[in-house]
Amino acid sequence: MGRGLFISFEGIDGAGKSTHVEALADRMRAAGRTVVLTREPGGTPLAEQIRSLALHQAMDPLTEALLMFAARRDHLQQVIEPALVRGDTVLCDRFTDATFAYQGGGRGFDWQTLSDLERMVQSLPASEDGLAPELRQPDLTLWFDLAPSIAAERLAGARLPDRFESQPVAFFEAVRAGYARRMEEGPSRFARVDADQAREKVWDDVCRSVQTRGWI
Ligand code: TYD
Repeated sequence: MGRGLFISFEGIDGAGKSTHVEALADRMRAAGRTVVLTREPGGTPLAEQIRSLALHQAMDPLTEALLMFAARRDHLQQVIEPALVRGDTVLCDRFTDATFAYQGGGRGFDWQTLSDLERMVQSLPASEDGLAPELRQPDLTLWFDLAPSIAAERLAGARLPDRFESQPVAFFEAVRAGYARRMEEGPSRFARVDADQAREKVWDDVCRSVQTRGWI
């Protein structure tokens, strides 16, 4: 197991997580940590190529789910695991919960199949005591939760939408339900941040979640 810290940022498109990823990176660096700022799908040259396919090419749901996990595998091996071994702090704009929320919730793809793929891609080497191998998961997942109707207003006219951003509000309701289900399945790892507040209030909540864990 790596010694570093792994934090992921999640939420539907338009929830406003990205500015807080950057801000937390600055705050963590100020606290003396070496920060690796990265994103999914993406974070390596190969995974960034997969990202542009997944976000812009039509494909069936299984292909989409496999591409997300293929990108994740490369990202874990090339970037995340080495950083955690070095003791760095990894801040990742989206991780596996996004696959459950978007492909599982949004697209309606089979949850159990996603869990099987998750185990295949994120298993850590078996420990010497013979226990089942653990899964690599973030130490903390900040879920920026916002009603899809409000997120849609925020996104309107912002830029040319990709295959996900162009989905109707009902899709994002299902994505949101997917995140809620993931939080129910692993509550200790999650902090839900109410994203329907002024940006400074959201930032306070982000800082509090990290501070209560003693990380800044
Ligand atoms: P996003 O992270 O919102 O980046 P940007 O801020 O540049 O738009 O875009 C990534 C999109 O990919 C987002 O709509 C969610 C989607 N996605 C999935 O569908 N499954 C996944 O596993 C991941 C990581 C992302």
